[in-house]
Amino acid sequence: MNTPICDYVKKYAENSNLRLHMPGHKGTSFLGIEHLDITEIQGADVLYSAEGIIKESMDNAASLFSTAKTLYSTEGSSLSIRAMLYLLKLYAKGKGRTPLILAGRNAHKAFLSAAALNDFNVDWLYPEKSEGLLSLKVTPEQLRAHLEKCKEMPVALYITSPDYLGNVSNIKELSALCREFGLLLLVDNAHGAYLNFLKESAHPIALGADICCDSAHKTLPVLTGGGYLHISKNAPEIFIEQAENAMSLFASTSPSYLILQSLDMANRYLAKGYKEKLSAFTEKSQNIKKALTQKGYTLFGDEVLKITICAKKYGYLGTELAEILKGKNVVCEFADKDFLTLMLTPENEEDLNELKDVLLGIEKRQKINDAPPCVTVPKKAMGIRDALFCQSIEVNAKEASGKILASYNVSCPPAVPIAVCGEIIDENALKAFEYYGIEKLRIVK
Ligand SMILES: Cc1ncc(COP(=O)(O)O)c(C=O)c1O
Repeated sequence: MNTPICDYVKKYAENSNLRLHMPGHKGTSFLGIEHLDITEIQGADVLYSAEGIIKESMDNAASLFSTAKTLYSTEGSSLSIRAMLYLLKLYAKGKGRTPLILAGRNAHKAFLSAAALNDFNVDWLYPEKSEGLLSLKVTPEQLRAHLEKCKEMPVALYITSPDYLGNVSNIKELSALCREFGLLLLVDNAHGAYLNFLKESAHPIALGADICCDSAHKTLPVLTGGGYLHISKNAPEIFIEQAENAMSLFASTSPSYLILQSLDMANRYLAKGYKEKLSAFTEKSQNIKKALTQKGYTLFGDEVLKITICAKKYGYLGTELAEILKGKNVVCEFADKDFLTLMLTPENEEDLNELKDVLLGIEKRQKINDAPPCVTVPKKAMGIRDALFCQSIEVNAKEASGKILASYNVSCPPAVPIAVCGEIIDENALKAFEYYGIEKLRIVK
């Protein structure tokens, strides 16, 4: 597969051009990468009006992911999520439908800002069994039960799959149900770009989602910030027509060409031998999971590139395990009191034995019995947008009982909101804030 963006920039950097354009470093070496860092100069194309090298590269990505259209983001999935909701808003307006979206409660905070900016009402789906805030596998049974009794049909379902702890929803069945009830399916696939390259693709687009975002940087060899907006061949026409407008509405006008080159280079890497590499690697990572289970660890989630340990069942807090690992130069993705999450990719091939030795070297202790606070359904006082645009003041969490939350980012570490702006802070929310160490809140004035 060709790499038109990389080729263009390399050639540009090799010619001794007078750089009388941005960026201000002019190609002078400070970090050592500046010669490859350019902007949308003539010939370098324009990200969201692409007709040249960027278009060619994004078309390569679309063919790899079998989409109708794939656009690059140099601002992660957060940008794509805002664009997805804008497209949904256009679709809802066109159909004369209320902008109401049904969403899994473990949505990332980017979804809340997108809902507020695009003025959506959100109807939440809560976990069927409470395993903490980060985890929510929306089941087809749960969705059917909800849709059969809802007073107003939402225009779409929004799910986060895989979630932060590695749960994967049954997107194939969920998408069939969405079609049956006339909903579109939007997926936050920030953690699952690699799913497209499993022996049988488990990518949301392959399984029936209309649109999804991937953070390429989370699981593929792409620089931080690199992401995709993928639109299915079955998506409403307006998604395809308006995709560039939607992205450019929320994006910076200065996309990073370093990230664009990284996404461009990834196409070549993914097209040639990656499937086989991933398959061989997942076999090895499954073997490690087996060895850990035999040692007495309890693992969580079903994603092949994540190892999530239920730390308390092994006698430790997740944060304690993280410290032990750090002492042995193993840095985890995430740890809270309950879980420790390690993210692996085939680029960790050489690290697997070391990881296994370190984890097997930690002795099991008596189980810690204390459980995370249950996720409960709070009372809503106003919509997300109304609360977010209200005058607000910051108070100690302990003094916020009965008040309306105004901030959208009151979250446990991976940005999953404990309470959503517009909701009344009740005793359950206060317990959760305390459990996750949140001391300050913004409340509606
Ligand atoms: C589930 C989920 N969705 C969306 C995002 C936002 O992605 P990005 O950081 O690529 O903007 C994250 C980031 O951690 C995430 O975990």
